Amino acid sequence: MDLSVTLGEYQLSSPLVAASGTVGSVVDFQEVIDFSAYGAATAKSVAPEPWPGRTPPRLAPVDTGMLNAIGIQNIGIDEWIRAVGPHISEVPTEFWGSIVAHDIDGFAAVASSISGSGVTAIEVNLSCPNLDGAPFALDAALSAEVIRSVRAATDLPVSAKLSSDAQPISAVAGAVAEAGADWVVISNTVMGSRIDPDTRRPALSGLIGGYSGSPIRPIAIRSVLEVSRDIPELPIVGCGGVSDAEHVVEFLLAGASAVAIGSAHFKTPRVATSITKGLNRYMKHHNVARISQLTGAYEPW
Ligand SMILES: Cc1cc2nc3c(=O)[nH]c(=O)nc-3n(C[C@H](O)[C@H](O)[C@H](O)COP(=O)(O)O)c2cc1C
Repeated sequence: MDLSVTLGEYQLSSPLVAASGTVGSVVDFQEVIDFSAYGAATAKSVAPEPWPGRTPPRLAPVDTGMLNAIGIQNIGIDEWIRAVGPHISEVPTEFWGSIVAHDIDGFAAVASSISGSGVTAIEVNLSCPNLDGAPFALDAALSAEVIRSVRAATDLPVSAKLSSDAQPISAVAGAVAEAGADWVVISNTVMGSRIDPDTRRPALSGLIGGYSGSPIRPIAIRSVLEVSRDIPELPIVGCGGVSDAEHVVEFLLAGASAVAIGSAHFKTPRVATSITKGLNRYMKHHNVARISQLTGAYEPW
């Protein structure tokens, strides 16, 4: 079975990607996760300077799925390069850096700094729901400006992480593609909230956070379908609510070339190992020789 896929010119040994923020810095999760099961692993987003993140509570379970408002707690790019950089080559897969900032110059500065650290691609987190103000990813023109500045700051492949909250998401995807994004990640968490009826307190100190897990999969699939229909030449990494091989196949059929796993890591850190077995079983059963054949191959009614 051939599990290799491509994102434009960029090759991955597997369609599975570890999603940013769910496997720490990648380096510090190596004891619990076998990263050779992934085509790529994405580190937690890093900013131009250290960010403390939001005050607790910043994680909350929901009937299904979870809410988070971590607020991108991170050590800042200078310390990140010192602490993480020397270990990147020890990770047995493509290592993607994820960058975040409050403004365009900040994105360009982190992109430039992280470029020499050993990361093999840069994911631009345009869609964090936990910062003050609306996420960049809700605004096509602003998202394009960010990607243009990152594109000018690095020679590495650049991807844009989008939000299913953007309507229409194809407008944002088209704008970032035009600005130089090599592929898009669809998508980040969906904005959500919860209030405890007894205490009357919101579940998150930040009131509104990012909703992730299985309930957002249909939303992310819809986004992937829209973007692959409207911009067929733009490679997509699907993301949202994936915890088994069938979910991965669903994203591929919708038009994704690779698929990121996020919250499922919290329940099953080695989930990619069982998903890989499931993909092999699926391919054998359905007579699929190369997994890349599944991309966009859903059967219309
Ligand atoms: C606790 C937590 C932290 C996250 N941190 C980041 C982050 O730093 N950068 C980012 O781009 N996405 C971050 N995400 C979003 C995930 O990468 C992923 O896009 C999202 O959770 C949807 O996928 P899932 O339903 O499989 O979890 C975070 C998600 C969670 C649950």
